[in-house]
Amino acid sequence: MISLAPSLLAADFSDLRNQIGLVEEAGAQWLHLDVMDGLFVPNITFGAPVIGALRPHSKMVFDTHLMIEEPERYIHEFAAAGSDVITVHAEATRHLDRCVQLIHAEGKKAGIALNPATPLSQAACILDRVDLVLLMSVNPGFGGQKYIPYVTEKIRELRHLAGNQLDIEVDGGISLSNVKMVQKAGANVIVAGSAVFGAPSPAEAVKSFLGAMEE
Ligand code: DX5
Ligand code: ZN
Repeated sequence: MISLAPSLLAADFSDLRNQIGLVEEAGAQWLHLDVMDGLFVPNITFGAPVIGALRPHSKMVFDTHLMIEEPERYIHEFAAAGSDVITVHAEATRHLDRCVQLIHAEGKKAGIALNPATPLSQAACILDRVDLVLLMSVNPGFGGQKYIPYVTEKIRELRHLAGNQLDIEVDGGISLSNVKMVQKAGANVIVAGSAVFGAPSPAEAVKSFLGAMEE
C-alpha cells in the first residue's frame, strides 16, 4: 500500500485544523508530525498537546516522527495524544529495542528512523520487529532542503533486505519530480512538506502527488 504523508511542518501554524482538513479531503492517507526538541536537531516545533488537539479533527494515520533525544521518556505521551505510528531515531537513543517495545506496549506501530549517513546495519537486528523504517533523505531539522541522492540506493537495499511487509518511509526533499524514483526504489510511505503545504493549493498538490504515485 502506497501512502502520501503531508508534513505539518510546512503548514500555516496559525491554521492547523483547516490545513489538515484540506489535505485529508484531497485524499492524503497519513499526516506526518515532526516533533523536534532543539537538541537532537537544532529546531523546536510542537509536542504532544498539539497532536492531541488535532486528533479529534482527522481520521488520517497520525505518523509521529520524534526528532528528540532519549525518546523513551515521551513514548507514552505521544501514544496518549493519538499517534498511530511512533518513529524514533536510532541515533537518539541508547535503547532502541526498549523504545520499540514501549511503542508496541502502547498498542501503536513502531518505526525507526535513520539519518542520511547512518548505515542500514543500525536497523538490521531489529528489522523484523518494527513496522516501519524511515529513511531521512535530508539532514533532519528543517523543511525545504534538497534530496540527498545517495539515499535512493539505501531505499533499494532496505527493500531488498526487508521484503514486502515493512513500511519504508522516505522523508525530505520529495517533490513531484522525484517521487516516482523513490517509489520505484521501494519506498511506500512518502513524506512531503513544502511540496504540499508550500504549494499555492495544498489540496491540488496532494492530488498531483497521488496521481503521480498511481501511475
Ligand atoms: C525534516 C522533517 C521532514 C520535513 C520534510 O527534519 O523530518 O518531515 O517536514 O520537509 P520537506 O518535504 O520540505 O523536505
Ligand atoms: Zn519528518
